Amino acid sequence: MENKRIATLTLDDGRSIELPILSGTLGPDVIDIRALSKLGMFTYDPAFLSTASCSSSITFIDGDAGQLYYRGYPIEQLAERSNFLEVCYLLLHGELPNAAQKVEFKGKVTQHTMVHDQLARFFNGFRRDAHPMAVMVGVVGALSAFYHDSLDINNPAHREISALRLLAKVPTIAAMTYKYYTGFPFMYPKNSFSYVENLMYMMFATPAEEYVPNPKLVRALERILILHADHEQNASTSTVRLAGSSGANPFACVSSGIAALWGPAHGGANEAVLKMLEEIGDVSRVADFMKGVKDKKYRLMGFGHRVYKNMDPRAKVMRETCYEVLQELKLENDPIFKMALELEQIALRDEYFIERKLYPNVDFYSGIVLRALGIPTNMFTVIFAVARTIGWVSQWNEMISDSERKIGRPRQLYQGAAKRDYVALEQRK
Ligand code: CMC
Repeated sequence: MENKRIATLTLDDGRSIELPILSGTLGPDVIDIRALSKLGMFTYDPAFLSTASCSSSITFIDGDAGQLYYRGYPIEQLAERSNFLEVCYLLLHGELPNAAQKVEFKGKVTQHTMVHDQLARFFNGFRRDAHPMAVMVGVVGALSAFYHDSLDINNPAHREISALRLLAKVPTIAAMTYKYYTGFPFMYPKNSFSYVENLMYMMFATPAEEYVPNPKLVRALERILILHADHEQNASTSTVRLAGSSGANPFACVSSGIAALWGPAHGGANEAVLKMLEEIGDVSRVADFMKGVKDKKYRLMGFGHRVYKNMDPRAKVMRETCYEVLQELKLENDPIFKMALELEQIALRDEYFIERKLYPNVDFYSGIVLRALGIPTNMFTVIFAVARTIGWVSQWNEMISDSERKIGRPRQLYQGAAKRDYVALEQRK
């Protein structure tokens, strides 16, 4: 017979309740507190430091060991041996595709790379100097207005086509955002290219010249996309799930994820890393800057992680890619890169960082790689959004398919005024 484990919670008034302990495939056990409402109480866990908000089979992180698996496959193996579209299939469907499925999936995604011509008009409503993430939030959300034929979230076929459309069109919109900002004409997708080549083509090609992608740089961008494809229940993914729990359509949900991703504590971190390096300006000022970090005047961007209390496994891969790209482009003596290495070395030896288990995260290196690829700083989070779209869509799809799905509705510990009566204006102090 199954040995059911329970946790017993006893209150100071003598009442007690038995709460089941649940085990996942990997990771810590969780206490199922759903029955707590019988006591008329909630748990208090701001920022969800001790809360599993859902059960999921997509991504696993062991923050202490510095491990990340997509559907059980270690991220290092996927970054080394797979490609982004294959990883997308894996995240969405749960298994690696066989040869026929792989070809079919690529064909389906490729069919949807163009956007409705009217969507291009949305861009004119934005100032040319608008932050590209502001444009992304608006234009990706606007996709909801174009696909009324497939917005029934309870229909698996509709969900599949929406997933394919998002996966195929978000890179096109991202590249259009860049072109709009730089004043160059939009480039239509070129379906003979791979997914990543096409993204680079739409960003960097012009109608005036032939564009030949550099395979080493394509591989580097492919790795960035693979490493950022999913990261379990982070802020933007939780936002997508919460928005989706109300039955909102996937385009609107992904747009809400893009908004959450924009913040410097989340997806905006690699942009913040580059800004920080530019502000420091020179290796000779690194030591002074570090003093300010330790005096808590500001944070060292690209260091620390809510879950990883060891080296971020994505950072290891990205560090390697960083060297490869800088070598390929003969940028090893780039002053920004030198400064980054100096910061990294100081931080890894410093008691302040060791004590708090603050290691470089993926964004510390990805910003340097993206910059070397010629992608401007304000586009970094957009590239992250392109990568994370598949994670958001897979997590959203998993949530909608869950037979126990309910609208997400956290409660609160109310600390405001107790009930009081309305005071007429003339009697107010
Ligand atoms: N620089 C200096 N001190 C830091 C840093 C940092 N980057 N991160 C955390 N600390 C200190 C913090 O001051 C606190 O010290 P004390 O215990 O003395 O008060 C301690 O470390 C714990 O900090 P926390 O804020 O409780 O940690 P958290 O888990 O809530 O925050 C974080 C995680 C990522 C928001 C934070 O480490 C941070 O702000 N890092 C810089 C921004 C960054 O690189 N973000 C990218 C995250 S990875 C991308 C992604 O997955 O989205």
